[in-house]
Amino acid sequence: MMPLERVKPLLGQAAARLRGAGCDTPDLDARLLLQWATGLSREELILDPDHSVTDEQARRFAAAVARREAREPVSRIMGEREFHGRVFSVTPDTLDPRPDTETLVETALALMPKAGRLLELGAGTGAVAVTILAERPQALGVATDVSAAALAVAAENASRHGVLDRLSLLEGDWFKPVTGVFEIIVSNPPYIPAPDIAGLSPDVRCFDPRLALDGGKDGLDAYRAIALGAAAHLVSGGHVVVEIGAGQGPQVVAMFAVAGFRPAGQFRDLGGHVRCLAFRGNEN
Ligand SMILES: C[S@@+](CC[C@H](N)C(=O)[O-])C[C@H]1O[C@@H](n2cnc3c(N)ncnc32)[C@H](O)[C@@H]1O
Repeated sequence: MMPLERVKPLLGQAAARLRGAGCDTPDLDARLLLQWATGLSREELILDPDHSVTDEQARRFAAAVARREAREPVSRIMGEREFHGRVFSVTPDTLDPRPDTETLVETALALMPKAGRLLELGAGTGAVAVTILAERPQALGVATDVSAAALAVAAENASRHGVLDRLSLLEGDWFKPVTGVFEIIVSNPPYIPAPDIAGLSPDVRCFDPRLALDGGKDGLDAYRAIALGAAAHLVSGGHVVVEIGAGQGPQVVAMFAVAGFRPAGQFRDLGGHVRCLAFRGNEN
């Protein structure tokens, strides 16, 4: 029988392998994967470095570290990700929700009335719409996506967080499946220029769905569609909030101006970058 392995050397060896594979946060990744493989908490790992893991836990951890060495993100290996304080299922059909997108959520929460109607375009895991509805118990929402597989994950996450009865999930291209008007429209659309996708890190390029990344030739296709369609689905004086990529602000502002929207603020992520733009629709 093999001697049982202890958490401290397991963590050290795994972090060294992940560092060698070019992972940005090898110690954190190793710890999260060991917690996942063993069910131990962060505190248990720190306070009891000599704790032994079972053979099965060690095998599960070794397999997870091998996947991370091949640059699969930790959240995809674990099948879930924490976003704005809640845990969301993530699958190969969904974008892995990013902490930066919490800026979109915060902006929407600040702008929408308590019992407002929310439309999200491009739901993915549903992290954005589900979080907003969970934080606003009187609000109602609709979320769309062209990916039926992503919508199934969004439904699971909506159910997990108790908002499925207030969220309609519709399959289709941007506004096509949508009827009615909303106080707020939000979107974190695909915004990577297609020619740039090949240069993204393997964690993103190989594991996020292309549909969630590819914003067309200049990265701005989705904003064109959203700016053109938003007025027909917004109440008088309602807001549109979109996440943007680096340097896209001026072009996105110009598109919304042509469609009759006034800028209502730009909001920075934790790294200090302008991450989302808000626009106010006409008051009739
Ligand atoms: C960047 S991901 C955002 C996912 C999620 N809202 C988030 O922030 O984590 C963009 C989403 O838009 C969806 N999408 C791409 N093209 C679309 C289209 N034409 N109409 C509706 N949704 C689309 C993708 O399937 C993907 O789920």
